[in-house]
Amino acid sequence: MKNNIAVMILAAGKGVRMRSDTPKVLHKICGRPMLDYVLDLARDLKFKKTVIVLGHRHQEVKKFIKPPVRITIQKKLLGTADAAKTALNSLKGFKGTVLVLYGDIPLLKKETIKGLLKYHQENMMDATVLTSRLEAPSGYGRILRDKYAGVCGIKEEKDADDFEKDIKEINTGIICFDKDKLYSALSQVRPNNRKKEYYLTDIISIFYKKGYLVGGYRLADAVEALGINSRRDLARVNRIMQKRINEGLMEKGVALVAPEFTFISYGTKIGPDTVIYPFTVIEGNVKIGKHCQIGPFAHLREGTVISDGALVGNFVETARTAISSRTLAKHFCYLGDSRIGKDSNIGAGTVTANFDGRNKHITRIGDKVFIGSDTVLVAPVEVARGAKTGAGSVIIKNVSSGTTVVGVPAKPLKSV
Ligand code: UD1
Ligand code: CA
Repeated sequence: MKNNIAVMILAAGKGVRMRSDTPKVLHKICGRPMLDYVLDLARDLKFKKTVIVLGHRHQEVKKFIKPPVRITIQKKLLGTADAAKTALNSLKGFKGTVLVLYGDIPLLKKETIKGLLKYHQENMMDATVLTSRLEAPSGYGRILRDKYAGVCGIKEEKDADDFEKDIKEINTGIICFDKDKLYSALSQVRPNNRKKEYYLTDIISIFYKKGYLVGGYRLADAVEALGINSRRDLARVNRIMQKRINEGLMEKGVALVAPEFTFISYGTKIGPDTVIYPFTVIEGNVKIGKHCQIGPFAHLREGTVISDGALVGNFVETARTAISSRTLAKHFCYLGDSRIGKDSNIGAGTVTANFDGRNKHITRIGDKVFIGSDTVLVAPVEVARGAKTGAGSVIIKNVSSGTTVVGVPAKPLKSV
């Protein structure tokens, strides 16, 4: 693959159909904004330049973008052709192929894009559309072919007649162009359509009429091109992404008892031989060692680190908490902002009272500690190595090593 390739990511749209205050590309899929998946793709393929077009609520979206990705702002959302024009303004002087990606198509795989670019370059195309076949193509632009079966245009659904609506070959939205030819053709696009927008897809018929070489490259797995326009699409894509994540973990030796009922955020690290029971929810930035048991019905939130051989059972919620090797927290607990040592036992119903209404505080529990059932630890507080707390105790003061405390508020056993 020759690397004279620049990529533009179109992400200025409002996402009206989401009916949301959040910009569409920031809606999350398996715990991270959908845009991040597209940015990863651009980064992994090591393109010469990456430009992203933002518009609607660009101040918010900007925060998620880092150099070397360039940001350009589309002032008025006049359509995808106008967005492409905006992007080309930051690619002055660049010669070669521009690849258009959409911020709302997060399932695309690297191999697919490589295949598309290879086809485009080897056949010396001026434009190549990544197409796909859908049994229910509604919402997508349809691929028009001439009598020799060559691609000659794209018709948006809103502008299509009944015959065209029956076409099952669709435009995924991913297209690569010769940059200079795209640049000059963009000035010929007119908003003569139902939406009164400047359509990038019109470039295909413009190229065709000029006698430029236009091709279609068929996507093998239509799922990759699923675009997100509505909440339903979001849920569907989320399910597919979750399947990919879970299958990736299983390949690395993690035991998911019922993968279709296990919800693990993108980027979660889990060691081999750890068993995750159903209805466990694992949010972002969580790390789990090997030979652990998690769930069923565990909720591991951000900043949870669980070391080898630990057990976090049913109805346990953790956040910003480290649980060291072989420690057990088997039944309904809330463990927040806590640092828990090795070989300890956290009894059923233990709660870290980490929030005083204003600030969060840390609970420290040492190695070989026994926390009795229904203990409340009012943070900041520490229970040192080998200490024990009685059932129902409320810990408001530090407990020294080896001491047993009981009661409300908890006191050392000998003085009770
Ligand atoms: C678009 C394609 C359609 C294709 C479908 C695939 C056009 C005209 N139509 O339709 O052929 O089948 O994608 O999912 O291109 N955007 C901007 N600025 C704008 C308008 C849109 O940056 O002024 C961005 C959006 O943020 C989005 C992308 O372009 O990421 C596509 O726009 P959208 O309105 O979702 O197009 P579709 O109707 O889905
Ligand atoms: Ca779309």
